[in-house]
Amino acid sequence: MVVKSIPNHLLEQCLVLFRALSLYSVESESYMFPNIVRSKQNELVVVAPYSISREKFEKALDGLGSIFGRKFIGLEDLGNHRWLLQEYKLPELVPYSSRPANIPVEDYWLGTYEDGSPVVLRFEHSPVLLVAGASGSGKTELFKVLLREIEQAWGSDVITIAEGAKAGNDFRHQPCKKLVTETDEVLAVYEHMLSLYEKRKQLIKKLDVDNWLQAREKGVEWRPHYFLIDECPLFLSAPKKGDDDFNERTRIIKIASHLAARGRYVGLFQILGTQDPSSTGLPSDIMNQVRLKIGYSMRTAEMSRAYFGQASAHAADLVRGKGIAMLGSEPRIFRGALN
Ligand SMILES: Nc1ncnc2c1ncn2[C@@H]1O[C@H](COP(=O)(O)OP(=O)(O)O)[C@@H](O)[C@H]1O
Ligand SMILES: [Mg+2]
Repeated sequence: MVVKSIPNHLLEQCLVLFRALSLYSVESESYMFPNIVRSKQNELVVVAPYSISREKFEKALDGLGSIFGRKFIGLEDLGNHRWLLQEYKLPELVPYSSRPANIPVEDYWLGTYEDGSPVVLRFEHSPVLLVAGASGSGKTELFKVLLREIEQAWGSDVITIAEGAKAGNDFRHQPCKKLVTETDEVLAVYEHMLSLYEKRKQLIKKLDVDNWLQAREKGVEWRPHYFLIDECPLFLSAPKKGDDDFNERTRIIKIASHLAARGRYVGLFQILGTQDPSSTGLPSDIMNQVRLKIGYSMRTAEMSRAYFGQASAHAADLVRGKGIAMLGSEPRIFRGALN
C-alpha cells in the first residue's frame, strides 16, 4: 500500500474525521484500518462508529486519497453508517461499443461520468438540450452519438438537422429526414413543427390525455421529432434591424421559444449547439427553458458558473470529449462517447 503524507491544508479536516471514525493504523486482512473495509471489488467502505456529517467527510476525501494513493471524488451513503468512497473512474476514451446494455429504450446514452456510471439523457426534464463548447471540443461527436441513439429508438426520419454551410457539412452522411443549411429552410422546418404542435394539441385534448406518450398508449402512432441545430446562433440569435433575414429570424425565434416552453408534451424537441458558452446571443425566452445542458471547454469556474447558472466543476485541461453535463441534476464531469 502506498502511504503518502497528507497535505497541510487538509490535515485539520482529516484529523477531525479520523477522530470521528476512531481510525488508527493497524492492518488486517480485510480491514485497511479498523473502520475501513476493502470489498472484493477493491472498493473502500468506511464504517463509521456513529453519525458523521457528509460535509465534513467530503472535506477529508483528498486527504484520504493521498493516504491510499487513490483519487476519490465522492461518497455514497450505503446506510447503516457505511460509506462507499467513490473512486475517480473517468476513462481516457469511451468507444460507442462500450455502451452498457441495460439503458432503457427511450433513454439516450452519451458517455461515462467520473464515478464510472453512464451518462443518460432524458428529454422529460426539458424539450431543449443545449451543448456549448469551443470549436474542436467534441460537440459534433456528441451529437453523432445522440443521433445514433435516437435513430435506434425511433428511426432516422424523426431527425431533422440544420447546420451553417460555412461550418462545412459534418452531418452530410447522417441518416435523417432532412438536412438544411439556409435560414428560410430552417424557418420552414419550424413552421412544420408548429403545425404538428397544433394538430397534436387538438388530438391530445380530444383524447383527454396529458401528453403525446399517453396518446401513444391509446394507440395513436406518434413518434417524437428532434430538430438539431449545430452552431445555432446562426439561426437563433436576435436579428438586428436592417438584416436581410430580419423577418425570418424573428419568426424562427418566436416558434423556437414557443416549442422550448411547450414542445415536451407533444413530443417536439430541439437540440442546440453553440460555440459561445455565455450563450449571450440566444433569446432569453429559449434560455429560460433549458434544463438540459452540456458544456465543453469550461476553462474557469466563472465560465462554468455563468453557463450552468450555479457553482459547478470546470475542466481546465481542455481535453476533447471531456465536459460537464447537467441533465436533470447537478452538473457533473463526464467523458463523451466516441462514435
Ligand atoms: N468523446 C470524445 N473522445 C475522444 N475524442 C473526441 C471526442 N469528441 C471529439 N473528439 C475529437 O475531437 C475532434 C473534434 O471534435 P468535434 O466533435 O468535431 O468538435 P466540435 O464540434 O466541438 O468542433 C474530433 O475529430 C475527435 O477526434
Ligand atoms: Mg462541430
